Amino acid sequence: MLPSLRWEEPPEGPVVVLLDQTRLPAEEVELVCTDVPALVRAIQTLAVRGAPLLGIAGAYGVALAAVRGYDVDEAAGLLAGARPTAVNLAYGVRRAAGAYRVALEKGEGREGAARAALAEARELHREDADASALMAGHGLGLLDELLPGGGHRILTHCNTGALVSGGEGTAFAVALEAHRAGRLRRLWVDETRPLLQGARLTAYEAARNGMPYTLLTDNAAGSLFAAGEVDAVLIGADRIAADGSVANKVGSYPLAVLARYHHVPFIVVAPTTTIDPRTPDGASIEVEQRAGHEVTELTAAPQVVASGMGPGVGGGLPVAPLGTQAYNPAFDVTPPELVTALVTELGVLSPVTGAGIAELCARSRQV
Ligand code: MRU
Repeated sequence: MLPSLRWEEPPEGPVVVLLDQTRLPAEEVELVCTDVPALVRAIQTLAVRGAPLLGIAGAYGVALAAVRGYDVDEAAGLLAGARPTAVNLAYGVRRAAGAYRVALEKGEGREGAARAALAEARELHREDADASALMAGHGLGLLDELLPGGGHRILTHCNTGALVSGGEGTAFAVALEAHRAGRLRRLWVDETRPLLQGARLTAYEAARNGMPYTLLTDNAAGSLFAAGEVDAVLIGADRIAADGSVANKVGSYPLAVLARYHHVPFIVVAPTTTIDPRTPDGASIEVEQRAGHEVTELTAAPQVVASGMGPGVGGGLPVAPLGTQAYNPAFDVTPPELVTALVTELGVLSPVTGAGIAELCARSRQV
């Protein structure tokens, strides 16, 4: 697979190159961002997405502005505000912009400061890859402890693999580790309406890794639990509040409720960069509301077949009468009491409490 994001320095000037996730799985096409507005557009259209990768993209975006001589503060504001929920985005921007500012204050000049911003982005990229590997190990250890019989049947939601990370991802990386250890019996993949991150991206990654996986519609999960076919739920996170509330792709909260009813562990896997000590609780998390046409039209499939109805206002295939209003939050919030455990690069937190989160923050590198 092409890398989900890389920095390149062709003779025409530095660029951020993204694997365009809106085109997967039909085609692996790269998107070259020569400036910050292009990167912001890529973030908003989900060409680049997923919390850890958004952080990395934000940091490289600041470096791009700095190296190309644009206004770094303005760029940082545009990037950090591109999407509101995944806290990693603002975190990555803050890391690179902070390195730029410190270097300027030390008298290293604009060029030296730009080099410092780029070095910080590269460092964040590396740290995320390391965190990914550590979470995979901790997560598999936890699964083996909770489910001593082995042969894990894991349900996951959205996409949390190499496409969203400097490494192999968060929740998906744990499932992959289980597969490599011969202990993954089945990966149940929620399609993840409306943009189909599960069907298009997780199924793509699972297939590429030779994992035993089955795709289901989001609303089929209940009957799967009822049939006793799910041993654990593994999801990622976009923001974890100080009280341990978890914002993740819409549809995660219903899974947590189902998991509790059926006595199935509900496990969140996320690097500590996804914890936001500045957000006190779940109600304070800003949930991104997206355009209604993502629900009223099939916009996610690049190969949407033309129909008699013609393209809708979003350019997709309409599936609802013209003018239908849609409720389209991109995320929902799961309260900490429904989370069995939080797996970070620092280990496993269970139960998930405000005190435990505060301790994790103290041990991690927060800026
Ligand atoms: O809207 P998206 O596709 O950016 O949402 C992504 C998710 O909700 C992921 O589950 C989350 O970022 C965790 S990825 C490690």
